[in-house]
Amino acid sequence: MAAGAVKSIEEAQARILELRTQIEYHNRQYHELDAPEITDAEYDALFLELVELETQFPELVTPDSPTQRVGGPPSNAFAKVTHRVPMLSLNNAFERDEVREFDKRIRRVLGDVPVEYVTELKIDGLAMSLLYEDGQYKVGATRGDGFIGEDVTANVKTIPSVPLRVTVPPEFPGTFEVRGEVYMPRRSFQRLNEELARQGKALFANPRNAAAGAVRQLDPRVTASRRLDTFIYALDPAGRTRSQAQILELLRQMGFSVNPNSRTHADIESAIGFLDEWEEKRRSLDYQTDGIVIKVNSLAQQAELGFVSRSPRWALAFKFPPEQAETKVEEIRVYVGRTGAVTPVAWLQPVVISGTTVSRATLHNEDEVARKDVRPKDYVIVQRAGDVIPEVVRVIREKRPKGSRPWHMPASCPECHTPLHREPGEAVTRCINPVCPAQVREHLRHFVSRSAMNIEGFGYATLDQLLDRGMVRDPSDLYHLTKAQLLSLEGFADKSAQNLLDRIEASKEATLPRFLLALGIPHVGEHMAGVLAEHFGTVERLQEATTDELIAVGGVGAIVADAVHEFFQRPESRRLISRILEAGVMIKQPKKATGPLAGKTFVLTGTLQAMTRGEAEERIRELGGVPSSNVSKKTDYLVVGADPGSKLEKAQRLKVAVLEEDAFLELIGGQPVQQAHPYHSQ
Ligand code: IVH
Repeated sequence: MAAGAVKSIEEAQARILELRTQIEYHNRQYHELDAPEITDAEYDALFLELVELETQFPELVTPDSPTQRVGGPPSNAFAKVTHRVPMLSLNNAFERDEVREFDKRIRRVLGDVPVEYVTELKIDGLAMSLLYEDGQYKVGATRGDGFIGEDVTANVKTIPSVPLRVTVPPEFPGTFEVRGEVYMPRRSFQRLNEELARQGKALFANPRNAAAGAVRQLDPRVTASRRLDTFIYALDPAGRTRSQAQILELLRQMGFSVNPNSRTHADIESAIGFLDEWEEKRRSLDYQTDGIVIKVNSLAQQAELGFVSRSPRWALAFKFPPEQAETKVEEIRVYVGRTGAVTPVAWLQPVVISGTTVSRATLHNEDEVARKDVRPKDYVIVQRAGDVIPEVVRVIREKRPKGSRPWHMPASCPECHTPLHREPGEAVTRCINPVCPAQVREHLRHFVSRSAMNIEGFGYATLDQLLDRGMVRDPSDLYHLTKAQLLSLEGFADKSAQNLLDRIEASKEATLPRFLLALGIPHVGEHMAGVLAEHFGTVERLQEATTDELIAVGGVGAIVADAVHEFFQRPESRRLISRILEAGVMIKQPKKATGPLAGKTFVLTGTLQAMTRGEAEERIRELGGVPSSNVSKKTDYLVVGADPGSKLEKAQRLKVAVLEEDAFLELIGGQPVQQAHPYHSQ
């Protein structure tokens, strides 16, 4: 039945029920199983058809209809908006001395004149541009890649602090643009996550992700329910104002929400005082700030300073150090990983850091535990920077309970009781039993993981049963599982068993990078798997490569070359590969570069929130681009996630275009940043 065709109420009822079932099913595939079966556009079409039918027959709307609830993948249905003036990003500083350097650079350009600065809180939200015509709100757009954003006019309209009509001062044009941040107050974020938890849905990792999700909703009613807010800091044209401080004042008079915590300074030391003051104070705010923006106050001086690459020379973002919190170590457990490496992990009393609940922190290795002298029942300071695994910074010695003893690595593997082994000069302790159940289990988990063979539905609960019953010994056995075997396991019914078998079948069509990653070759992560696949093209060619041939590949060092060579020389590895291929796994040849990113070279740095680095690289390859690990003059884009490394500086020096995550997602037609299970932090 075509959407939009005239229907009787009975027909509509039947179709509505059908659509709801389908949408619910796809919601679950997308949000909970992370295994979407249809494209976003197909999903949008179903959703829109339902909205249309329910609009036509409002009496058929029920509270449990998907249209009445949050959910569904983001839409690609937003129209594109070209920004009149590109939305740029700021250079970052992490040390106070870098702020002083910034001031010196400015003085070198401006000469010996007084320079005033304005400091503003750097709101950790989503950059937005709002266009007004004749004083009326007309267009709301996301930043996108800085040049082209998404039209989210209707969604932004639901935010109460966005004025729909503005009285402009005399001599000010009625058509103007303001820019600022849309954010989700901490309280709204908490309420939203509580609600999602009650509904058994995936939670948002932090308010910023939640705000991004809310702004990019297909249904503005959902945006409205998310209680977003705004802070505006830019106005174009600037009318008769002469400084940033005056712009903020004018914006306030026009009825925009302007953050009250900004200040004007006669010199840079005063601005640095503002950083000191807010480093602590910001925690008491009901919104997240990740730093302070320092701007030259005078607009004339700003114009004189201009831009370098894609950032203004007149502004700087000072980033606060990672947030920390105090909590108690309940116990220290050790985990045996896929390669047998044993990692001590602190189990913590749950504590909220930068909006995320943390209940585990890595202690890295035995020496780290000794160096920090972390003991069970200690009170510790834990920190979380960006999206990386939280870690214990230090112990609060004054709070140490009496009679506690230093922690030591257990003598034997907690899983197979084989004595643990540590090579002299190495930091890592290992279980060297190759058939240690923990290693086998982790290897299987790795094999089926999203970035490797991507077979959703093999959680530990299932894998453990398969291992215990001897149904699976190595990854190739997964391809021989039968429905009867799955049905004999706890937690499987006919439908779920069939679904899993279907997913196993689907995974048989793999790409070479995924396949190489899945093999679990030491030192071969997602990036390296891509590099090797790109160079050798087939497993056979890689298997035959000598260490010298491997080292000759750009980006492959001696350690990796040795590890790869050794891996393929081992008869067990070769046997495993043949068994997997015999089971029907086929390696797809990648398409040649003709996509929208054809020929463009990308380097990634820092932690991306929406996807792993490997996924990002895969997307780049799919679209015809070339991921690379080193920034050079030939690099077209540097993609920066949280806590970027020195590559960012190098890119800036070489004037390589820098894309922040949002802009990158936009470029690759990506998805907003949402984490399925932020609490699994170990
Ligand atoms: S001024 C030319 N002021 O931080 C760029 N930005 O990379 C002018 N931000 O994309 C930006 N609070 O989304 C400015 N008070 C503030 C800000 C702010 C947050 C964001 C903005 C920008 C990013 C800087």
